[in-house]
This record gives sequence, structure tokens and C-alpha cells, in this order.
Amino acid sequence: GGVTTIDPGFKNTGSCKSAITFLDGEKGILRYRGYAIEDLAEKASFLEVSYLLIFGELPTQVELDKFEQDIKNESLVDEDIHKILDAFPKNAHPMGVLSSLTSALTAFNPRSVEITSKEDMYHAITMLMGKFPVLVSWCMRKMKGEPLDYGDIDLGYEESFAKMMFKRPNQEYKCNKTIINALDKLLILHADHEQNCSTSTVRIVGSSHAGLFASISAGISALWGPLHGGANQAVIEMLEAIKNDGGDFEKYITKAKDKSDPFRLMGFGHRVYKNFDPRAKIIKVAAEEVLADLGIEDPVLDVARGLSEAALNDEYFKSRNLYPNVDFYSGIIYRALGIPVEMFTVLFAMGRLPGWIAQWKEMRENKEPIGRPRQLYVGEPLRAYSEIKDRK
Ligand code: CMC
Repeated sequence: GGVTTIDPGFKNTGSCKSAITFLDGEKGILRYRGYAIEDLAEKASFLEVSYLLIFGELPTQVELDKFEQDIKNESLVDEDIHKILDAFPKNAHPMGVLSSLTSALTAFNPRSVEITSKEDMYHAITMLMGKFPVLVSWCMRKMKGEPLDYGDIDLGYEESFAKMMFKRPNQEYKCNKTIINALDKLLILHADHEQNCSTSTVRIVGSSHAGLFASISAGISALWGPLHGGANQAVIEMLEAIKNDGGDFEKYITKAKDKSDPFRLMGFGHRVYKNFDPRAKIIKVAAEEVLADLGIEDPVLDVARGLSEAALNDEYFKSRNLYPNVDFYSGIIYRALGIPVEMFTVLFAMGRLPGWIAQWKEMRENKEPIGRPRQLYVGEPLRAYSEIKDRK
């Protein structure tokens, strides 16, 4: 027989046991492998956090160096991937391009699918950690019509990624510490968030023993939507619309409260955090710092401040425990770094990569069964087949 109850949106359904990320939505606590997000964002590098998420412990210097070297050794992308990228229109959304290229990696590295040993798993992981930043930068360079490049093997993982993103053609590239630190912090804050929509997607696709790259490609598609990672793009578009509308945020608050209007305040609310989002707290401070450091005055930040203050004092948002989430301020930093708005969710994907990998690895190591929810059937009972000539 079928089931008698359902849980739409899996609001109250645990799908697995996990030792990766601890989240307390009431208290606003987020920890990776037991370490507070505040400490990691302040003190660790993105690659260290990736190692921590994937392997369970903070690396020693020797372990980190080896991981970095193994990744560098796998960081070339087959030249034919260029041709696939070339075939996309320039205005294609980079999330679709990234998902396609990540899936295409399987075709060029078919062995990545056969995971029969620890070594196979490690190899698939280092391949993806190496090739993904290249694909991310290519997505942006394609959009901008800039030449594609590879990472710089003389630089660390994060610095090399920054160079691929920010080196402009015919200009000398100088590594800017403020930019690298801001990028590092954003990637760390996005690195894992337990069983969210895209991560659950990665685990469920991977549970059929589809390859790692195919599973991550599916995760990227899940992240694309505006209710999930796509919110960071939607937030900036909303803030710009408010600014262009004379900064009248009260009007948008009224719209967001109107149940007959589909508009929602983007970057507000969270399925799990019902007090505050600890990532948003860190990002708000970082956004103010980065703009001050880079000497940028962005009127959108003023709109963001005004809008969030007004919403936080509004009975509708208060009574529903709706607070700014991680995506409310991240876009302001990305904008300050000169990243086009369509790329914001791609950067979220770059940050979430180690989390997805860690969750996929845990699922495979725990030998979890194939994910296959049940349903409550509400369709027609048995009916007699009618010939097409007799149908009206
Ligand atoms: N603006 C206006 N009303 C809202 C909003 C919002 N942003 N978020 C929730 N509500 C209302 C909702 O209408 C409902 O009201 P009522 O009880 O009167 O029907 C109540 O608050 C509860 O919302 P829900 O939709 O049942 O909550 P959920 O857990 O299903 O949705 C959410 C969570 C994040 C999808 C939702 O808050 C939302 O759509 N936020 C805007 C999009 C966004 O910022 N997403 C990024 C999430 S954080 C990054 C990530 O991890 O992806």
C-alpha cells in the first residue's frame, strides 16, 4: 500500500544522518564539522574549509599542501569543452551554462563515474575541485566576451581563482587583498548548509550511483531558482528597481505583504532560520567593510539598509520571523567586486561545491539506499479504456 500522510516540501522529514553541518534555526547557529561559522569565516581559507567539510578535520599544512597540489594537477579542462561553451549564445544564463559544462565533464572523464575505492573517490573529488573554478570563470568570461584562461599554478587556490575571474585582457593583473579576502569569506559562508534543496538534489541523484559530476550538475540546476541560490541575483534586481522607483521601499513592503501579489521580499526569510541567519550578520559587516576599503559608494546599499530596517520593524515580518538571509547582502559585495549580476548565483555554486562534494561522499560512504519518496495518490480510480473514435 501507499502512504497515508505526506510532507510537502519535506518540512518535517529527515532524509539522512549527517556529521557535516550543524544548524540550529532557533538560535541562529551554524557549524561545519563542529567549528563555528564565525571562526571559519574570520580565520580559515576556502580550501581549508573545503578540506574540513570533505574529510572531516581541519588539514595540517602538509595535508593542505598535498590537497592543493593534487587539485592543481587536475585543473586542466579538455579543450573540446571550449567548443561546447562556444556554441552557447552569449546571453545564455551562466547557471545553465555551468550546469551543462559540469555535466559534460563526465564525457571527458568517464572514469570519474566508477567509484570502487577510496582512491577513485579522491580522484573524482580533486578533478572537480580543480576544473570547477575554471568553468566558473569561463562562464563569466564568455558573457563578457573575454578570452578564456586557466589558473596560475604559482598561486594558491583562492588567488588563482580570483585571477581567472578578475584579470582583464591587456591589463596587468594585481592581486588585491581586500578582494581576495572578501571572496574567500563569501565562499566559506556558502560552503555548506546541510540538507537544502540543491544538496538534497545532489544526494538523491548520487544515490542512484550516477557520477559525481552529474550529481553536482543537478545540484547547480536546483540552486538556480530564485527561491534558493537565485535569490542573490533577485535581491540586487529588486534593490535596483526600488532605487529607480525613487527609493520608496514602503511600497515594496506593502506589495510583499499582499497575498494576492506574487512579489516576495527577496533575501528575506528562511526555511530553517527563524531568529536570524548568522551568515547574513557576517556578510552585512563584510559588505560595509569592502565598500569602505574599495572606496565605493553604492546607493543600493542605502536602499538595502532602509528596506531591511523597515521590514524588521513591520508586524507582518516580525510575526513570521522573517529576517535578512545570506543572500540579502552578498550581491552588494559581488557588485563592488565588478561581478555581473547574472554571475552571483554561479559564485554561490562555487562556494557550495565542497559542501555538495562532502554530502555526496558521505552518502556514498554510508551506503545509503536510492532516494525514492512515496506519494499519496489522488487521481482517478480504475477506468475502462475507450477507443479514440468514441472520445468526446
Ligand atoms: N516576503 C514576504 N513574505 C514571505 C517571505 C518573503 N520573502 N518569505 C516568507 N514569507 C511569508 C509567507 O508568505 C508565509 O506567510 P503566511 O504564513 O501568511 O502564508 C510565511 O512567511 C512562511 O513562509 P513559507 O513560504 O511558508 O516559508 P518556506 O520555509 O516555505 O520558504 C523561503 C522559505 C526562503 C523560500 C521564503 O522565505 C522565500 O521565498 N524567501 C525569498 C527568497 C529568498 O530569499 N531565498 C533565499 C533563501 S536563503 C539562501 C539559500 O539557502 O538558498
